[in-house]
Amino acid sequence: GDFVMFYIQVVMKNATKLCSIKPIVTVNGKFPGPTIYAREDDTVLVKVVNHVKYNVSIHWHGVRQVRTGWADGPAYITQCPIQPGKVYQYNFTLTGQRGTLWWHAHILWLRATVHGALVILPKFGVPYPFPKPHKEQVILLSEWWKSDTEAIINEALKSGLAPNVSDAHTINGFSGPSQGCALQEGFTVKVQPGNTYLLRIINAALNDELFFKIAGHKFTVVEVDATYTKPFKTDTIVIAPGQTTNVLITANHAAGKYLVAASPFMDAPIAVDNSTAIATLYYLGTLDSTITTLTSLPPKNATTLATSFTDNLRSLNSKKYPARVPLKIDHNLLFTVSLGINSCPTCVNGNRVVADINNVTFVMPKISLLQAHFFNIKGVFTDDFPGNPPVVYNFTGTQPTNFETTKGTRVYRLAYNSTVQLVLQDTGMIAPENHPIHLHGFNFFVVGSGQGNFNSKNDTKRFNLVDPVERNTVGVPAGGWTAIRFRADNPGVWFMHCHLEIHTTWGLKMAFVVDNGKTQNESLLPPPSDIPKC
Ligand code: C2O
Repeated sequence: GDFVMFYIQVVMKNATKLCSIKPIVTVNGKFPGPTIYAREDDTVLVKVVNHVKYNVSIHWHGVRQVRTGWADGPAYITQCPIQPGKVYQYNFTLTGQRGTLWWHAHILWLRATVHGALVILPKFGVPYPFPKPHKEQVILLSEWWKSDTEAIINEALKSGLAPNVSDAHTINGFSGPSQGCALQEGFTVKVQPGNTYLLRIINAALNDELFFKIAGHKFTVVEVDATYTKPFKTDTIVIAPGQTTNVLITANHAAGKYLVAASPFMDAPIAVDNSTAIATLYYLGTLDSTITTLTSLPPKNATTLATSFTDNLRSLNSKKYPARVPLKIDHNLLFTVSLGINSCPTCVNGNRVVADINNVTFVMPKISLLQAHFFNIKGVFTDDFPGNPPVVYNFTGTQPTNFETTKGTRVYRLAYNSTVQLVLQDTGMIAPENHPIHLHGFNFFVVGSGQGNFNSKNDTKRFNLVDPVERNTVGVPAGGWTAIRFRADNPGVWFMHCHLEIHTTWGLKMAFVVDNGKTQNESLLPPPSDIPKC
């Protein structure tokens, strides 16, 4: 591969949306941030200069970071943050990966405005395993608040209450012509009749899973999370924060304008969030006066539709792109993912919402876990994260009363190259909600999923070990479970968390430590000399 260099300046910028102006943290003054293009096997060098008053770090979501955990980005997990006025250069190789990924700030709630696409093209001369599109288009779905997002989350943490829901969703930074100021234009995708387009769809929203639709057109899904899938047709995409989905669409009308729309998917909406982001698919040559063809989006609780979408996803599993599902398992883990209530005398209602995995509400350390691991610094974390729920109850039934979580910076340790089966079990603690769980440093195979409590005897028999979809972020269904498998072939410290930002903030996160293997090639590289200090 080649070396590709990027220069990122984190700067404040005034942005106007929904008729109001506010200063936001941006990369190079842009919202959303610039698309970074590279090729499979390229080595990427990104120099980040922090010009804002906040600590910053950037995560390359979905990049495997083989042996280069120092470039992964989550603050206090793999690095100390880049302090105001400081610089850090991320240095990593895109080993054996191609497809759509993205990058985002990985500290506080800065990723609300600090994010962009990372497009990894196949190696020169290597075709896609699907017909070559005439053109490609990145579609970044985000959320927008009229007020300052850092203030919103700080307020919520103080009060113990849930933060305000966003004021709008956006498509490539545009909230759509019908929302807010009358004169605001929406984003337009221009197409030529008869041509085929590859849309690289990314859900960069903080807290909302989304439906995505284009009036009068069907999608062929060909890739998720930068892994190829068996193509299948659908008219609606379901995409969780953190996930990416590549689809082909054919402009099979002669002319016209067609609505492009995204709206939230929630099993049990607590908050009322009806905002729909809209854009336009515009056939070149169409008269401006033409009326846009509309489409209706699924209702917020269209769970059956969402489930059938995810059930249709399969690895391509071709000769060239085989699905290497671990068949022998060394670590058989069951993690409950929960939202709950802990007492909090200073909070508005005397309690606060917390989130946990196996009853552990993760406490962020003061220096990065990776530094503590590499330099053997004691007292930063303990490696006793429970591999099974410490308290067993009917996970999808009624919650035990006065159920307090424990706090800790606890990690789960894995030997190099050991294999893991991890069942993620949702609990219906306060409200059933899907949890898009993201694992850093790995792709995993989604071998099974179901409703209710996981039953190891019956459910294991039905696992798909042949062509399960391979991804880095998977939705754990509300009131149900999802089983994943991966091989711990990447030494380092790897964060795993819910990609609904509010759930991460509340503590729905943990980390795996993967020890070095025997040889140098199986060991974590030493930290770069400019690694930030805490
Ligand atoms: Cu995209 Cu740890 O996140």
